[in-house]
Amino acid sequence: MSDRIDDLRQRKEHILGLGGPDRVQRQHDAGKLTARERLDRLLDPGSFTELDMFVTHHSREFGMEKVDAPADGVVTGYGTIDGRPVCVFSQDFTVLGGSLGEAHAHKIVKIMDMALRTGVPIIGLNDSGGARIQEGVASLGGYAEIFLRNTLASGVIPQLSAIMGPCAGGAVYSPAITDFVIMVRGTSYMFVTGPQVVKAAIREEVGFEELGGAAVHATRSGVAHFVADDDPACLVLLRRVLSYLPQNNREQPPVIAGDDDPNRMDADLDGIVPEDRTRPYDMAEVITRIVDRETFLEVHAQFARNLITGFARLGGRSVGVVAQQPRVLAGALDLNASAKGARFIRCCDAFNIPLVTFVDVPGFLPGLQQEHGGIIRQGAKLLYAYCEATVPKMAVITRRAYGGAYDVMSSKHVRGDLNLAWPTAEIAVMGPEGAIEVAFRKELAASADPGALREQLARDYRAQFANPYVAASRGYVDDVIEPHRTRPRLISALAALSTKRDSNPTRKHGNIPL
Ligand code: HXC
Repeated sequence: MSDRIDDLRQRKEHILGLGGPDRVQRQHDAGKLTARERLDRLLDPGSFTELDMFVTHHSREFGMEKVDAPADGVVTGYGTIDGRPVCVFSQDFTVLGGSLGEAHAHKIVKIMDMALRTGVPIIGLNDSGGARIQEGVASLGGYAEIFLRNTLASGVIPQLSAIMGPCAGGAVYSPAITDFVIMVRGTSYMFVTGPQVVKAAIREEVGFEELGGAAVHATRSGVAHFVADDDPACLVLLRRVLSYLPQNNREQPPVIAGDDDPNRMDADLDGIVPEDRTRPYDMAEVITRIVDRETFLEVHAQFARNLITGFARLGGRSVGVVAQQPRVLAGALDLNASAKGARFIRCCDAFNIPLVTFVDVPGFLPGLQQEHGGIIRQGAKLLYAYCEATVPKMAVITRRAYGGAYDVMSSKHVRGDLNLAWPTAEIAVMGPEGAIEVAFRKELAASADPGALREQLARDYRAQFANPYVAASRGYVDDVIEPHRTRPRLISALAALSTKRDSNPTRKHGNIPL
């Protein structure tokens, strides 16, 4: 018996040694942790249970019968994060470049199935050269099986992807379907076709970083929701993101009460919106002054910065915050902001996370580029997402709520549960300048002093429309409040709405304008 136990121990030891000391050293030299070191940091100490350690490829082509591939280049299993169960896979670049063959794929598929069946989040740590070339179509089939499960699990269990090395070719589509993508600065990249192919196909010379590095995907493509400075920071961030999410779509997110007083009132909020309504202010500051201290985690922070999206807590409860940023494009909704907001709202709605919207929107961004780029289609996504969401929806109009954007941004008419306005709110079809030019074109043309008339009309228009009381008199705004009272009002509303039940008509699925 003891021989057998020794044999078992030796086998396990070999597998735990990954691709061997040289390759582990190369991994470290590249500034990366190994697949197992990553899991050690991601999960609660001692909580990881590995599955399928002995699985390896059965490939016989291209000399593969001689290739030893411990764990077939991917470590899979389950463990806990902050005491809550999760399923994980972690690709091992030291074994065949973490490339994905049939056995490697089946391990991932198996742990994804377990996550879905048990209703726990699945976290993928990606570090792979892509489809294992020696295994051909079996690798492609393996990817497709993963994509299928990503899709079936979407909106059922949280799916988090960390990109901690290469992620190339069709392999990118698994993370792309998941809820959140975190990239590591400097050591990760994602692209459908790499620099060599780009050069051969269209004669463009481009480097890895420029084509698909973390900065590009965080700022331009919007593929990455977060960027971490290195592997340890990425793993800490994964834990943090998970803290806002429930285990699955049938559960509520955890309530994590901090020491921030729910009745705290921030007097500085009363002066935060400038008297001059054309001057910007920092909406991120409004948010951080209202939510529980140090709980605001911005999602897509560097992408479409005219719209802020992020998680926070109010009185310990998770909320999804959506807000205009008047500092960027005056907070106007453009193509990217619309798509960014829609995706975030749908994620919150899928996972029972109430939405808090701060509105200061001059409208959709005008112009040829926006119209030709499909602002109708993109804007419709945001509208659709707000209309469809059945989680508690609360909104605070801090300043402008103009035009269609008023309707879109969690208005009463799209099932807003609590719609508050600050006294600085202006709710109108459009801003005074545009409105006067359209409504009084003839009068202005006939006037001896159009400048004076324009000023007079603007004053009248503002007196009439540039306030929250017309909307409040119709019940479109539930209350006009002093800004410093916003935090307690939102917290008490969250408690009142915690038993909210609402649903949409039964159907196979809606047809969101994609
Ligand atoms: C088999 C692979 C591999 C792969 C890397 N390796 N990628 N083996 N299949 N796809 C092996 C290498 O041969 C090498 O083995 C070891 O992993 C480490 O790779 P290196 O090249 O030495 O590492 P590095 O210099 O860091 O370069 C990493 C890399 C490069 C840029 C990722 O390996 C690379 O370009 N790989 C191919 C990437 C690619 O085009 N993949 C296919 C994408 S298409 P030895 O034994 O020599 O150390 C795709 C389709 C998916 O994935 C479709 C889904 C629908």
